[in-house]
Amino acid sequence: MKYNFDQVIDRNGTDAVKLDGLKELWGRTDLIPLWVADMDFATAPFILDAIKKRCENPIMGYTSKPDSYFQSIINWVKMRYELDVEKEMIQFVPGIVPGIGMAMNALTEKGDKVLVQPPVYHPFMWVTERNDRTLILNPLKWENGMYRMDMDAFRELIKGCKLFILCNPHNPGGVVWKEEELREIAEICDKEGVLVFSDEIHADLTLPPHRHRPFATISEKARMNSITFMSPSKAFNMPGMTASHALIFNPALRQRFRKFMEACELDLGHAFAFLSVEAAYSHGTEWLDQCLAYIQGNIDYVDAFLKEHAPKIKVVRPQASYLIWLDCREMEMSQEALNKFFVDKAHLALNDGAMFGLVGTGFMRLNVASPRCVIEKAMSQLAEAYENL
Ligand SMILES: Cc1ncc(COP(=O)(O)O)c(C=O)c1O
Repeated sequence: MKYNFDQVIDRNGTDAVKLDGLKELWGRTDLIPLWVADMDFATAPFILDAIKKRCENPIMGYTSKPDSYFQSIINWVKMRYELDVEKEMIQFVPGIVPGIGMAMNALTEKGDKVLVQPPVYHPFMWVTERNDRTLILNPLKWENGMYRMDMDAFRELIKGCKLFILCNPHNPGGVVWKEEELREIAEICDKEGVLVFSDEIHADLTLPPHRHRPFATISEKARMNSITFMSPSKAFNMPGMTASHALIFNPALRQRFRKFMEACELDLGHAFAFLSVEAAYSHGTEWLDQCLAYIQGNIDYVDAFLKEHAPKIKVVRPQASYLIWLDCREMEMSQEALNKFFVDKAHLALNDGAMFGLVGTGFMRLNVASPRCVIEKAMSQLAEAYENL
């Protein structure tokens, strides 16, 4: 491999949420942090080079968005997903969740119903409720060791909603939705007049042989009735850059969203935002291929290890991204006891499955985007705790 994902990098002193949150959440710092969804690998070197180069000029003034930034997004989505985008359809947003929150404010009203499908990335629920919208839950169905959408329930619950937030691919669980599923929800949402936000932040981390399908490529109706949120932040490990984009194909939606953004100048970005996105998308293919192969290796390792040493903890193999959903229901513990087991016995900081919605009870989310030796140490701590149960 050209790039080194085995290198252990000390993140102390960088105000990393993954480390700083340990004391706050679990009251102790002796835990291996495998929770917050960023990677412990170095951000791709061509991104760091672009940032360093910019620092050679000592003036951090107001920064415009160069054409090359837009072009890099256009090229990337065309190359990877056959998605045709024009410059005017690209709207910078300072992060995906901020973008979803802003678009929700721009395009829906207080009290409006918003549907999400738990277990799901919890800020979807926070952003809905904190913006005084009404949360409607359509839990995913657990079938043959994986999730699928409950279409019958979806068809009923979506009635009267103004917005559906699709997680595509889905976190947690790492589900790459099938074309038929996306087509069905696209048709239902179009028929019911429900707008779709498709959060595709994990798309670039889709693990071969699975293939990501952008919601907007499903049909012309889906394209005109949705906003797609994308970013290189997960795939190239640069979430601290808060540089994401909304792809808005429908001119009327675009105009309403832009008016909202411009009213408070919410799309200014910062000196490093556009050049880091451009560097990722212009030079990222080889790095990403190797990173995905490394992640796949970590998933294989955890899967094989747990089968042998902790068979009641089942690995739900992600089809996308580096977050493994661990099915711990056979351990027959309450969620509180399960959390205590991971923290106090195994000394690991994972995400509590129930935080993604009550259907996540009995599960834990494990981030394996760390050097193999860290994952090996984590697994050996887990096996020891499991043996002592
Ligand atoms: C599905 C999903 N959307 C959004 C985010 C966060 O994006 P941002 O930091 O750009 O708001 C995450 C982070 O884990 C995520 O999993």
